[in-house]
Amino acid sequence: MPYEVLARKWRPQVFQDVIGQEHITQTLINAIKTGRLTHAYLFGGPRGVGKTSVARILAKAINCEEGEPGIPCNKCQSCTEITEGSSVDVQEIDGASNRRIEEIRELRENIKYMPSSSKYRIYIIDEVHMLTKEAFNALLKTLEEPPAHAKFIFATTESHKVPVTILSRCQRFDFKRIPPIQIVEHLENIAKKESIEIGRPSLALIARQADGSMRDAESLLDQVISFTGTKVEGDHVVEILGVIDRQVIFDATRAIIEGAARDCLEIFDRIYNYGYDIKEFYRALMDQFRNLLVSLIAPQDYLLDMSESDKEEIKRQADIVGSEKLQIILNFLIKREEELKFSSHPRLVMETTMIKLCNLGDYLSFDQLLKKIDSIEQRLTFAPVVNETQDGGHLSEPPARWDRESSEKTEMEEGGSAKREQTWEGFLKFLSSKNKAMGNVLKDWKVKRLDKDVLEIVRSMQSFSSTYFNDREEYDRLINYCRSFFGRDIQVKIVANNRTPAPQMESPEHQDLPPPVQDIMDMFRGEVKEASNAKKAGGNNLNRPVKKEEVEQ
Ligand SMILES: Nc1ncnc2c1ncn2[C@@H]1O[C@H](COP(=O)(O)OP(=O)(O)OP(=O)(O)O)[C@@H](O)[C@H]1O
Ligand SMILES: [Mg+2]
Ligand SMILES: [Zn+2]
Repeated sequence: MPYEVLARKWRPQVFQDVIGQEHITQTLINAIKTGRLTHAYLFGGPRGVGKTSVARILAKAINCEEGEPGIPCNKCQSCTEITEGSSVDVQEIDGASNRRIEEIRELRENIKYMPSSSKYRIYIIDEVHMLTKEAFNALLKTLEEPPAHAKFIFATTESHKVPVTILSRCQRFDFKRIPPIQIVEHLENIAKKESIEIGRPSLALIARQADGSMRDAESLLDQVISFTGTKVEGDHVVEILGVIDRQVIFDATRAIIEGAARDCLEIFDRIYNYGYDIKEFYRALMDQFRNLLVSLIAPQDYLLDMSESDKEEIKRQADIVGSEKLQIILNFLIKREEELKFSSHPRLVMETTMIKLCNLGDYLSFDQLLKKIDSIEQRLTFAPVVNETQDGGHLSEPPARWDRESSEKTEMEEGGSAKREQTWEGFLKFLSSKNKAMGNVLKDWKVKRLDKDVLEIVRSMQSFSSTYFNDREEYDRLINYCRSFFGRDIQVKIVANNRTPAPQMESPEHQDLPPPVQDIMDMFRGEVKEASNAKKAGGNNLNRPVKKEEVEQ
């Protein structure tokens, strides 16, 4: 006798055989008993959890003349024909291969005829979400006025793809993933009846791997016994399945999140010694971090397709790490995947990747990064002098020298310890709040001198703004703004920019980049293509190497 795969051999034949879907089977049994069946059902849920099985049991139960209500006899002609798939009155249609309108039209033609030997004509349409739009529309017409002798059972793994117009005309049942413990018990039962010797830990591993799908669990068991025969040793399961235990992935992400580099290396060592494919592990790790991120964005969605207990653990880990860092981790993994793919030392790449991920905690968050970038930009614009004092060279408060050539220090009236806002920078802010146009013009100008009585500013090279104060009115306004801001009369001198234009920027590789920028580049393995912001804001200052102290507060 040819070998019949476990999944087929063990297809539930009565509602009571269906595991983990009692909320559905009980309702259906009651509906049959009380004669309250509707004309269309929609079974949604993950693969291999009993949708097709329940659809067939329901069809049998509806048409069976022999059994008790709700319990098909599985012996009468109707029942056996449905089991064999040869019934004329119960038709199973695969929505994936009969998705066109022609097929649904044919269905609508046939549905008019009375059933040949049973009470009802029943159509089971599997993977119904695959129907075309036109086919759905044709189906909708039938659902709106179904003949009294017809019933529909739709099954799908993707309920969200079924149009609401269809959904609203069906009684909908959502099938659940089957909890691992129930899978283990069921497999144990099968093993006993099939005289297979296999330990519970092995079954638990299979169950974890099956991720809530009974069919997957049964197929995995099939796979194992086809290698080992009916006596299965513990370690063989891991080897044969060649899969990474899902628990290991959970452990790995946890270790990374906690920054436990040593744990990471140990976990990876285990994986490596089992002979797992490193790239497979890498992919599994990426998937898992993707799941963590999704759990923060759409926790209850179909996008996170897994058991409730896994979801909880995922969410717990995700809450610890937060979405910003998750995005950084994912970006990092995506960038490095190529490297791993082509490396002749994948183990080394994997290990360093994990260690780097563990140390990501030292990097700044995106928010912090943006703030840093902002402040660097500001400093490049108004690059101040470094005051080499004993406290490690803290920034002196501006006023400052505004470019490399000018050695002239400006002095504020309170003798260097000026209030911060009494600076050119502060003035620009003030100006922008009063007169945006003027503020914008002066943003590109430089200050040569700012002291008690005199403000000397150098015209921008930009032609559109260089003549702005040729207009006497604008000039007077500027004087007034100066008076209100500095609280005294200041003579404003506008001088021409008679220096040669700034030499071209050095090539990016040779630039001495401020540490936070360098960090960003390291993290994303980037390069400086253009420094447009700094250039716009800072003009000549770009050429001036930025000292470390200047970019660190
Ligand atoms: N709830 C369950 N209880 C017992 N066995 C089950 C259950 N679900 C699935 N199985 C096993 O898996 C096999 C396939 O199940 P079934 O075809 O009903 O799944 P399905 O939900 O229709 O999957 P798919 O979405 O892939 O079509 C069954 O023959 C049976 O062996
Ligand atoms: Mg199915
Ligand atoms: Zn029967």
